[in-house]
Amino acid sequence: MKKIVVMGRGGTGKTSSVALMAKYFIEIGETPILLIDADPDQNLGDLVGADVEKTISDVLYEFMDEGGSVTGASPLERLEPKILEKIFEGDLFDLIVIGAKWKEGCYCMPNNILKKVIPTLANNYKYVLIDSPAGLEHLNRRITSDVDYIIDILDSSKKSFEHFKRAYRIIKEVKIKFKEIFLIGGNRFPDNLTKRAEDMGMKYLGKINYDENVESYVIEGKSLLKLPQTSPAYLSIKSIMENIL
Ligand SMILES: Nc1ncnc2c1ncn2[C@@H]1O[C@H](COP(=O)(O)OP(=O)(O)O)[C@@H](O)[C@H]1O
Ligand SMILES: [Mg+2]
Repeated sequence: MKKIVVMGRGGTGKTSSVALMAKYFIEIGETPILLIDADPDQNLGDLVGADVEKTISDVLYEFMDEGGSVTGASPLERLEPKILEKIFEGDLFDLIVIGAKWKEGCYCMPNNILKKVIPTLANNYKYVLIDSPAGLEHLNRRITSDVDYIIDILDSSKKSFEHFKRAYRIIKEVKIKFKEIFLIGGNRFPDNLTKRAEDMGMKYLGKINYDENVESYVIEGKSLLKLPQTSPAYLSIKSIMENIL
């Protein structure tokens, strides 16, 4: 099993990249795959055509609202089946959505529960792809503390380089384990910043091509898994993944 986390500032193309990576693994038959939507804005489901009924945070909060305690004797044993029940199981991939409530306050116990459930669950898959939120808070929470590849998507702004540097510092500070970090440029990443990306000390794997299909599929709410194999964004992701693997 290999875990891949995609991060970067808002709008850089994280969610569509995760959807296209899923498409890639499906095309080459590297399944089963698990997708984890860790972004409170949760739109990965839309981009892969999955209608998710309940998020993990919904399940946890319902459990607590009904008087269930997430402290005390082994809450994990009681909660795990409820969480597993809410995994979207598709023909080609499974998906779990962490949900919106995660961003409010400190939810240490639910967080700890997730930290335990995800690694066990992940073992059932060949690849686990994680779409992370734009903020860096998720790194502190260490919902995923042990990953293979971290892919950071850059955009044209100076801020996106700074965002990455900050993220890298936090990753080190909170001791998230990883094998390798890669940088890629989003579709708006200007070619004249390539050198700067290459000088960041990580492997820069090129940029994702602009793709009008991606734009129109997102607007129409169509699954990116249905993009033609010749679609520019898909071809970019394909070559990036071939490079990584
Ligand atoms: N390769 C691409 N070509 C053209 N537009 C894209 C491409 N990738 C993403 N987009 C557009 O950018 C928007 C943001 O992409 P998204 O993947 O949701 O970013 P993020 O998850 O980082 O916020 C999408 O709504 C889509 O319209
Ligand atoms: Mg997103």
